[in-house]
Amino acid sequence: MQHAEITGWGKCVPPAVLSNKDLMTFMDTTDEWITSRTGIQERRVCHCNFSDMAIVAAKRALAAADLDPGEIDLILLGSLTNDSYCPNTASIVADALGARSAAAIDINSACTGFLYGLHIGTNLIRTGAHKKVLVIGGEFISHYMNWSRRDVAVLFGDACGAVVIEATDEETGLLGASIGCESDAKYAIQITNLGSAYSRMTDDFLYADWNFEGQEVFKRAVRAMAQACEVVLEQRGLSVSDIGLVVPHQANKRILSALAKKVGLDEDKVFINVHKYGNTSAGTIPVALTEALEEGKVKPGDYVLMASFGAGLTWSAGLVKWSNRVTPLTETDADLPPCEKTALEIIEAQIKRYEERDKASV
Ligand code: UT7
Repeated sequence: MQHAEITGWGKCVPPAVLSNKDLMTFMDTTDEWITSRTGIQERRVCHCNFSDMAIVAAKRALAAADLDPGEIDLILLGSLTNDSYCPNTASIVADALGARSAAAIDINSACTGFLYGLHIGTNLIRTGAHKKVLVIGGEFISHYMNWSRRDVAVLFGDACGAVVIEATDEETGLLGASIGCESDAKYAIQITNLGSAYSRMTDDFLYADWNFEGQEVFKRAVRAMAQACEVVLEQRGLSVSDIGLVVPHQANKRILSALAKKVGLDEDKVFINVHKYGNTSAGTIPVALTEALEEGKVKPGDYVLMASFGAGLTWSAGLVKWSNRVTPLTETDADLPPCEKTALEIIEAQIKRYEERDKASV
């Protein structure tokens, strides 16, 4: 049977840092509230296009796998903040990489976009339909942020990550997965005025806005991710003590503590970087996985457990058996264009735009 080894990994986090103190300059919030409720200290703001981050993350993953882009036969890109809907962003990435033999598919399942992509890509390799797949996950969520919404705006950030998976006879890569959707609660996270269900004949169309039921999502996230983790462990006949590292979706540190408790996981085994980046949606797992590898936290042969939850409300868990290689084969100097502005300067016009609309509607 064919398996799909993760042979390359890479991340791209934009350089502009938006700290909790920066948010306090224009929003009624405190560093104490954000840190104690979420664990988030800062997040990044993208100064270019989403595809620029995806291309850099992909180039780094390809370098780690020492793979020529021409050998990739499928690109799966998880994101809800694509450059455009036509053309799809996976095509933009394919062209920039020179991945001339690759089919290119965007996956919009929000925070689960990367794990959904890893599941799909792995199974297409298992069937023999594809051999070398690039799976990307990331978000440019600041582009759609309403900075007047303190209950939402403090939570999110921009970043992207990618992995290369390749066909192998070795029993490695994603060995177990469980994915699903609590569609009955689909509007618990909703970005409005974005999509063909919204009239373009009103001024509202210019303002993406958010429905966000934080507490409902919190409860569902813990329950669904815990159940999915238990399912994938059972699929392989493993217990939590067999897990070397957990690389979960990074939405809120409190969610991760609750998840660890519910599944019986040792919190020391849970990789956390939400304090640095906030919730980067489909970007959290590939970025965290790359950092875990960079920090030597993934050992050869480790079982790595991943779980995610987000808009839709989609959920997923995956169990990866890591191969023997935990270091990149090569590196690249690919990077984003230089950023001349601070994070506050990048979002300044958007903050004003929403403030003015709010004033006009009073
Ligand atoms: O990727 C998956 C998607 N997202 C998630 O998984 C997020 C899941 N939810 C959460 O992480 C948490 O529910 C939040 C962090 C969003 C909120 O934490 P909470 O402990 O559930 O707070 P809350 O919604 O109960 O809000 C408590 C209070 C409210 O004030 P009142 O009504 O009690 O006076 C809010 O208005 O905190 C207020 N508040 C804030 N105060 C200062 C909300 N946002 C802020 C803020 N700064 N940024």
